[in-house]
Amino acid sequence: MENEQLITITSPLDGSVLGNVNAMSKSDIDEVIQKSKKVFDSWRAIPLNERCEILYKAANLLVTRVDELTDLLVKEVGKDKKSAKSEVIRTADFIRFTIETAKNIHGESINGDSFAGYYSNKFALVEREPIGVVLAISPFNYPINLAASKIAPALVAGNTVVFKPATMGSLCGVRLAEIFVEAGVPSDAIQVVTGKGSEIGDYLITHKGINFINFTGSTEVGQSIAKKVQMVPLLMELGGKDAAIVLPDANLEITAKNIVSGAFSYSGQRCTAVKRVLVLEEVADQLVEKILDQMKKLTVGNPLYGEADIVPLINKKAADFVCDLMEDAKEKGATLRYGGEREGNLIYPTLFDHVTLDMRVAWEEPFGPVLPIIRVKTVDEAIDIANKSEYGLQSSVFTENINNAFNVARKLEVGMVQVNNKTERGPDHFPFMGVKNSGIGVQGIRYSIEAMTRIKGIVVNLYD
Ligand code: G3H
Repeated sequence: MENEQLITITSPLDGSVLGNVNAMSKSDIDEVIQKSKKVFDSWRAIPLNERCEILYKAANLLVTRVDELTDLLVKEVGKDKKSAKSEVIRTADFIRFTIETAKNIHGESINGDSFAGYYSNKFALVEREPIGVVLAISPFNYPINLAASKIAPALVAGNTVVFKPATMGSLCGVRLAEIFVEAGVPSDAIQVVTGKGSEIGDYLITHKGINFINFTGSTEVGQSIAKKVQMVPLLMELGGKDAAIVLPDANLEITAKNIVSGAFSYSGQRCTAVKRVLVLEEVADQLVEKILDQMKKLTVGNPLYGEADIVPLINKKAADFVCDLMEDAKEKGATLRYGGEREGNLIYPTLFDHVTLDMRVAWEEPFGPVLPIIRVKTVDEAIDIANKSEYGLQSSVFTENINNAFNVARKLEVGMVQVNNKTERGPDHFPFMGVKNSGIGVQGIRYSIEAMTRIKGIVVNLYD
C-alpha cells in the first residue's frame, strides 16, 4: 500500500497525540479483501485443533500484555483503569471459551426413513463450514473486547477477517490484530482496515468480496449498512434504551446499587447501560433516595490521574448531545436531583426525577451519565412505556416475587430480561441480541460461531 495518508489519533483525556493510522483508499481495500479471499482456503484447511492452539496463544499473549493494553485503552478511549484491565482479561477468557465451544460444535447425520415415504437407503450428513471473508466492525467503547468477540469466533470457524475498528480505538484494534498474528494467525487472515468512513465506508460494506458483516455500533449506522448491502448475512448489535422496572416488592437496596452501576459505569457509554427507570409510585421516593446515596459514592475525574467511575465522554459531540437532552428535560419540568454540570467533555453523573413522556431523555439514548426516573401507576403502564421504545436490547425487572418477574419478563419486547440485576451482556456465553432497532441476529460465543458458519448437507444414497 503506497501513498497512504495518516489519521492522527489523540486522547480524549488530554488531547495528546497517541499515534497514527492509515487513511486507506479504495484500492487499498481491494488489496486487503483480495488477500483475505486468497488465504481463506489454506486457513480453513488447518485442522480445528491447530487453529485452536493458535487462538490459545493469542489469549495468553493478551494476558501477558495486560498492562500495556490497559494503558492504551485508558489513553485512547478514556476508560477507567479497572474497567480497561477487566476488558483485556475478559477478552482472554472469551477467546478460551470460544475455543472450547468450537471443539464441541458437531454436525449431525439424519436418516431418511424418519420422513413419510422415504426409506433407509438415504441419509444426510449435515456439516458446518465457514462463510468466507467476515467484515468485523467494532465500536469505540470496547476496542479490544467487542473486536475480539467478532474476530475469535470467525477465525476459529475457519473464516478470514477484515477488521475495521472505530477510529477512536483503532490503535487498540491494530495492537489486537498484531497479537493474533504473533500467535500464529496468517497476517492475511486478520487484516485491519482504517480510514475515513466518508471515503471507504460504503465501498467496504458493499464490496463483493465480503461474505458476512458483524457490526456493533449505533442504530443509525447499522440501519444505513442494512439498507446498502445485498444478500450478505448481517449480525448487528445496535443502540438500546434499557429500562429498569422496579416493582413495589423489590429489595430497594440491591435495586439502587444495580441501577447506579448499570447506568453510570464508563459514564454510561455502553449499549446495555440502564437508560431509564420505570418505578411504581408507591416506592419511588424511597428508591430515588437510595439511588442518590449510591450516586454520591461515584468518583468523577480523569482516569489518567486516578480511579474514576465517571470519565470524560469520547468527544465534544457526544457531550453536547447529552447536554441537549438535559436542557430539554429541564425546560419541560423534570426535577434535577443530582449533577447536571459539565467541564469540557466531562459530564457529572446526573439524575432527573419526574421525567415525563414528552421529554427526549425518556426515549433517546444519551450514551452518557444521565438517568431519567419515570414514575408509573401500574405494572402494565411500565411495560407499555418500556415497549413503546424503538429499541429492544435488554430490560431489568426488580422484584422479590418470581411470578411477578416472569409475568413482566414475558411481556417485554427485548432480547433479554435481567431479573434483579442490571442490564449487561455477560457472561459472554449467554445469548446476546436485540429486537426492533437494537439489532439483528444473536451473539454469544456458541451463537456467534453458528452465525458465522453455514450448514452444508451431503446426502448419501445407497443402492443394493
Ligand atoms: O456497548 C455494548 C456492549 O455490548 C455492552 O457490553 O454489557 O458488557 O458492557 P457490556
